[in-house]
Amino acid sequence: TRPTEEEDLIATLDVGTSSIRCLIFGSQRQVVAKHQIDIKRLYPHPSWVEQNAKEIITKSTECIQGAVTELTFAGYKIEKIKGLGISNQRETTVVWDKVSGEPLYNAILWLDNRTADLAEFFVNGKGQGERDCLQDICGLPIHPYFSALKLRWLMDNVPTVREAITRNTCLFGTVDSWVIWNLTGGVESGVHRTDVTNASRTMLMDLRSLQWSEKLLDFFDIPRAVLPVIHSSSQLYGATVGTAFAGKPIAGVLGDQMASMLGHGCITPGTAKNTYGTGCFLLANIGEEVKFSKCGLLTTVAYQLGPGAKPVYALEGSVAIAGAVITWLQQNLTIIQKAEDADELANTVQDNGGIYFVPAFSGLYAPYWDTEARGTICGLTEYVDKAHFVRAALESTAFQSCQILDAIQKDSGMQLTRLQADGGMSASNLLMQFQADMAGIPVCVPKMLEITSLGVAIAAAKAVNFVDFLQEGQPIIAGNVRQTYVPRITIEERMSKYSFWLEAVERSMHWAKD
Ligand code: G3P
Repeated sequence: TRPTEEEDLIATLDVGTSSIRCLIFGSQRQVVAKHQIDIKRLYPHPSWVEQNAKEIITKSTECIQGAVTELTFAGYKIEKIKGLGISNQRETTVVWDKVSGEPLYNAILWLDNRTADLAEFFVNGKGQGERDCLQDICGLPIHPYFSALKLRWLMDNVPTVREAITRNTCLFGTVDSWVIWNLTGGVESGVHRTDVTNASRTMLMDLRSLQWSEKLLDFFDIPRAVLPVIHSSSQLYGATVGTAFAGKPIAGVLGDQMASMLGHGCITPGTAKNTYGTGCFLLANIGEEVKFSKCGLLTTVAYQLGPGAKPVYALEGSVAIAGAVITWLQQNLTIIQKAEDADELANTVQDNGGIYFVPAFSGLYAPYWDTEARGTICGLTEYVDKAHFVRAALESTAFQSCQILDAIQKDSGMQLTRLQADGGMSASNLLMQFQADMAGIPVCVPKMLEITSLGVAIAAAKAVNFVDFLQEGQPIIAGNVRQTYVPRITIEERMSKYSFWLEAVERSMHWAKD
């Protein structure tokens, strides 16, 4: 092995919903430095979720500094960093003024539901009652989750946004674009770019041409001038200016869920991963042909590794509330003191005590896309205590993921043979075992859990001719399995639990209707 100070390195910045993380990898995919900073969410009204866009940048810069300090301390050389990959929470919408460099509003987060009525307006107006009327262009249903409606709302409700558009100084971006623009010099020299995976979540990109679609821009009445240039996920975006990474090229960009797909090595059709984070995102690789869902899933670009490379697509089922339900139990109900206590408490009981908890706090995403659904608990009796409650909350994540798996198998005709898991909740033995039981297939949790960062490191490494992590012969997952959970219950038991769950979901739907 090479002496530490000679080792070539690749850096990553993951700008997530709950935290920002900067990880630096060596040539054996090992993490050599890591720094993480939490980021606040703001809730100015029920169902509105925002973040301070400036804070995203200051914390990213701090995070980079923290990782570089750690790197140097460990004896590595900053000069050996060959490039930087950026992964990010997707759909979250930022608008800013390119002359002042100032955001024109807080970032509107992906799980913000303020555009629920606007979504209905488009569905019932131009969409003629069809939520899926744009699916054959962008693979998505008309829903507040995606950026187009958030941008439309900003244009309709924030005068400074309208004024900046009139002056031609307004720029729109998902979090990747906002970070890239700032890291490459902002007002002075910032480049306004995004990658195909992030662009595929705006509802404005044509999935086949990988370009902004005139038809979609026209549908939502969005001016093209505000949009970034779309790049592949693995190419040079521009040189970083002014942070501890100054001069390093940004060489890879991926939405965080697509990054985790790549990090898991899901590069052949039929491979799938589920990330159990704030929300839960299950993506299955469907290869180089676009296929559309009939069962409420999204079609999305999984990655395009180079400007000339063929894009690879995925079917995705997104669940809005997963880890967030544990945070809610901790912060709002104070049933547990910290997230890690959930497993311990849930393990003090044998089962969920007959309760089914549907945490539809922001409506239901896949496969229902019901903005009017609300959280529901079915089956309460005096027997139930807080341990059952926590157990039912953990189980809700597995049930929701099962619905996605079912839909993927129906839509694609593929029988998935294994599910790869990552994200904070994959540390829960109880949840992972229950997931395997309910899915009826093994669930595989890696040892090295920094899968999202590894994924974008793969994309960046490729663009700077570092190590081709995907071409080393061995599947990425090999040698990196912490535990494989195999199903342990009978089909009858599974079907019985699942039918209670489906019944509970039915009861949570359309609650907030007028
Ligand atoms: O689509 C939203 C997703 O990208 C958010 O991921 O890990 O930041 O909750 P995460």
